[in-house]
Amino acid sequence: MNDQTILVTGGTDGIGKETAIQLARMGACVLVHGRDQKKGTQVIKEINRDTGNEKIALYLADFSSLADIKRMAEDIKREQKTLHVLVNNAGNFYKERRLSAEGFEMTFAVNYLAPFLLTMLLLDLIKASAPARIVNVSSSSHRSIKNIDPDNLQSDHDYDGYTAYSLSKLENVLFTQSLIDKLKGTGVTVNALHPGVVNTNLLRKSYAMEGVGVEEGAKTSTYLASSPDVAQVSGKYFDNMRERPASDLSQNRELQDAIWDLSIEMVSEFLN
Ligand SMILES: NC(=O)c1ccc[n+]([C@@H]2O[C@H](COP(=O)([O-])OP(=O)(O)OC[C@H]3O[C@@H](n4cnc5c(N)ncnc54)[C@H](OP(=O)(O)O)[C@@H]3O)[C@@H](O)[C@H]2O)c1
Repeated sequence: MNDQTILVTGGTDGIGKETAIQLARMGACVLVHGRDQKKGTQVIKEINRDTGNEKIALYLADFSSLADIKRMAEDIKREQKTLHVLVNNAGNFYKERRLSAEGFEMTFAVNYLAPFLLTMLLLDLIKASAPARIVNVSSSSHRSIKNIDPDNLQSDHDYDGYTAYSLSKLENVLFTQSLIDKLKGTGVTVNALHPGVVNTNLLRKSYAMEGVGVEEGAKTSTYLASSPDVAQVSGKYFDNMRERPASDLSQNRELQDAIWDLSIEMVSEFLN
């Protein structure tokens, strides 16, 4: 992985931090995205020390601000010549309904719209670095959503944290599916995954379940970001390093197109 440059969003904690460590151990140049300078700097030091890899850099952006994401993407494009892998991992859980800097419901903004915009802004760099990969960290909870009302994507009237979270994770899979056609012939693959139920801050503040350790939880992200076995595989959903069918709803072409069009409209002022 010595010639690979990899961006891991939400690389300062949980599954993302462990994914960054595993990829750094393989020798990749790892760009760790975080939102807090002090925590990020500490994590970079830790990865340097534990892996012996010095090619680790920190990029900061609060994913609840599209303007901040655009600024970070510009920093990356200015400073990096290549980007071979983008791991869209950052995510959060909000029990109460809150609004992002641009007025979007927070779960939708951080878990879905942020990686959507970041991917769009970095796509030319990723294509120019092909063969390249986009890895979207979703969740098996996407299966609990049985229908979507495109007019109520932001749970305007009936907010429930679990539903909003599951909806955002379904949107991650819909986005993955939409990208397949757009990436045909570019040498860039895109896949989604469920990392398992993993002991992290997010799990503690949401489902209050017991999960596996982060080493186990990061392995499917690391596999999709690095393994030659999946270099040619695109548009699939993985669980425990195995391809699995995503939900029927995520395969709905009309829905994929509708959500894509709406998302483009929502981020349009940040695309140029
Ligand atoms: N844990 C599970 O069981 C599980 C199951 C299925 C899917 N997932 C998915 O796995 C991914 C990683 O989650 P995790 O469980 O590892 O959670 P985590 O330990 O809470 O880590 C989340 C990461 O995202 C970052 N983040 C959160 N809100 C952000 C914001 N507004 N702006 C920028 N960065 C932000 C966090 O930054 P800070 O370090 O600053 O907090 C952290 O680096 C998520 O996409 C989640 O949906 C997790």
